[in-house]
Amino acid sequence: MLLSVRDLSIRFGPVEPVSGLSFDLDRGQIIGLVGESGSGKSLTAMAVAGLLPLVGGRIAEGRILFDGTDLARLPEAGLRAYRGRRIGVVTQNPMTALDPAQRIGEQVEVVARLHRGLSRQEAHQATIELLTALRIPEAGAICDAYPHQLSGGMKQRIVIAMALAGEPDLLIADEPTTALDVTVQAQIIHLLGQLVRERGLGLMLITHDMGVVAQVCDQVAVLYAGRLAETRDAPGLFAHPRHPYTAALIDCIPREGMAPGSLTGIPGAVPSAASYSTGCRFHDRCPRMLDRCRTEVPPLVARPEGGSLACHNPMGPT
Ligand SMILES: Nc1ncnc2c1ncn2[C@@H]1O[C@H](COP(=O)(O)OP(=O)(O)O)[C@@H](O)[C@H]1O
Ligand code: SF4
Ligand SMILES: [Mg+2]
Repeated sequence: MLLSVRDLSIRFGPVEPVSGLSFDLDRGQIIGLVGESGSGKSLTAMAVAGLLPLVGGRIAEGRILFDGTDLARLPEAGLRAYRGRRIGVVTQNPMTALDPAQRIGEQVEVVARLHRGLSRQEAHQATIELLTALRIPEAGAICDAYPHQLSGGMKQRIVIAMALAGEPDLLIADEPTTALDVTVQAQIIHLLGQLVRERGLGLMLITHDMGVVAQVCDQVAVLYAGRLAETRDAPGLFAHPRHPYTAALIDCIPREGMAPGSLTGIPGAVPSAASYSTGCRFHDRCPRMLDRCRTEVPPLVARPEGGSLACHNPMGPT
């Protein structure tokens, strides 16, 4: 297993936005971490990338086993050897990830030089190859360009190139296509899928869009208010959602023939971490709520068909 997260909890002082997460990711596989805004997806990504201290958070409990090493126990100096080199990170907004004053080629090359010890010449060659693999036409000319000369989709490909330039084993992409229009989103998601298969990477794809998960993911972890609702292989999850929150997310995927404006979303909102409710955190939005759901936290239980489920009154298996 490339990545095994076990009982991960994240704290900011007394507030615990993320509790008890466990999931696994193999090489050549994509896991979708999905949930509405405020579910704890970005914090989970930051924990795996070792970036929580930057925002004042910390790993309070649990293990993040990466190729057998527990990243949760490594000091910052040890983590730096992983980030960029073995773990690549793609952020949501390409504008903040790119330096507007530096040519594209230099920005990718510096990563290859730093993490792979390549010479200037070798790094340039590696960058051209990488951009070409990312289906960027005229890679040589693009290397000489500045970020503002490129479209949003092209800029995001460059950010992906920077994340890949250290030849990582694990790629973490946090809402990598949210800022892009729908057609470009689909292209980038498709491209990420191809890269994972070709290079045998593991990809942790973070999104609030269940439609994106359906397109490319092998495994899915559904997060609600900082806890896992359910995890499973993607085909099984979409065919037989058992957690009411999973079913509600699937219902929100726009379907062909749907009238424009008929998208409803799920009524209500994710609570903020400082005011999580008792019992099941979804209870005030759940159509299947029982009395005990208000007071008893549903434990995350392994299921015979693989994956895990946390619900007192799940939907039927068929
Ligand atoms: N820097 C922070 N300090 C305290 N709480 C935070 C911080 N960042 C996020 N949170 C809390 O953690 C919850 C999850 O945040 P986040 O991981 O950004 O969610 P998502 O990426 O799923 O939208 C939010 O509801 C917020 O209340
Ligand atoms: S535990 Fe209860 S409230 Fe929570 S999702 Fe299941 S049925 Fe709904
Ligand atoms: Mg986020």
